[in-house]
Amino acid sequence: MRSFMKKTIYLNAATKGHSELAAQMLKDGKLVAFPTETVYGLGALGLNEACVANIFAAKSRPSHNPLILHVSDIASAKRLFDFEGSEFSKIFLERFELLSRTFWPGPITLVGKKSRIIPQTVCGQSDKVAVRIPAHPTALKILQIAGEPVAAPSANLYSRPSPTQFAHVLQTLDTRVDAIIDAGPTEYGIESTVLDIDAVTPKILRHGAISQEELQKVLPLVLANPVGNLTHASPSPGQCVKHYSPKISEIYLAGEQALAEAWFTSSGIVLTKATQIRLSKRLGNREATGFGPIRALPNDPKGYARELFAAFYEVEIKAPKKLLIENPLTFSSDEEWAAVSDRLIRAQTL
Ligand code: TXA
Ligand code: MG
Repeated sequence: MRSFMKKTIYLNAATKGHSELAAQMLKDGKLVAFPTETVYGLGALGLNEACVANIFAAKSRPSHNPLILHVSDIASAKRLFDFEGSEFSKIFLERFELLSRTFWPGPITLVGKKSRIIPQTVCGQSDKVAVRIPAHPTALKILQIAGEPVAAPSANLYSRPSPTQFAHVLQTLDTRVDAIIDAGPTEYGIESTVLDIDAVTPKILRHGAISQEELQKVLPLVLANPVGNLTHASPSPGQCVKHYSPKISEIYLAGEQALAEAWFTSSGIVLTKATQIRLSKRLGNREATGFGPIRALPNDPKGYARELFAAFYEVEIKAPKKLLIENPLTFSSDEEWAAVSDRLIRAQTL
């Protein structure tokens, strides 16, 4: 049995020399959690099998769930794909050129036939690899100095919410990683959109920070797996049914009426600010009355996404037995909620 009692070093991006130290630790084969514009990632050298194996072990992640490779420039990203070996060679390359120019650095991950330089363990059982250039100054600096692709899944234990703050990385990975570098809360709060561009029609494998609508401004035809996708064969190997869950035994999606019924109980509640204001007016202020933890999130999908995982980590610390999360589908059918709905459907108790 492997022991994880490492002495994790805490670094801060605002402190001189700390980003350089984080990069040097990666180069030395260590595990380093660092911020991206989406969520914190758990990085290690992505072309080194032993380092990649350490990521899977630290996260307790099953080996069939592939990793995203992070680089700092388009030329380095291009080298990770085998355009010529792909059945869709020409359109794959054209889409790569277009999307990398439009969205990188940024929260989109491109999937296509892998180059031979990539260890198979990075890609699970697939012959395709996932690659992105993150748009966070600390991530870019670390990647530039590291000078090699860095594999980085979200910096959480398997099946738990992705961390959007330093404190939440600590909540599941302290003593399991060599260092964590703090750069405050992340900008998007939700993971990158994963897009397969090496197919007849490009396909969203994981909904994320860039919506299907935003993608369609550049690529008119984009397929997407249904949100939640609980009954279909898994589209992206890592899109497991149980995912993103706070450590709370019962988690349910709820409409306004169910939230009203739970208002004066010990259950935790996560909801939009608009609904909180309405229910407070109707039933009375819950925060002042010592009932279960409550966390209100912005009413728009981007703002809601930014704070959702942080809300999960904050609520679970108060240890309610039950958590009710307001279901956006009860008040909006807008496609812009797809990424959030996908996370919520997977987070709930089945
Ligand atoms: O925003 C993000 O993408 C964050 C930051 C740290 O960059 N990373 C992240 O990694 O969310 P992770 O490992 O938690 O999720 C990676 C997703 C999974 O859904 C996985 O199945 C998919 O990307 N993926 C990775 N490699 C793939 C491949 N070769 N083919 C299809 N899907 C792949
Ligand atoms: Mg993850």
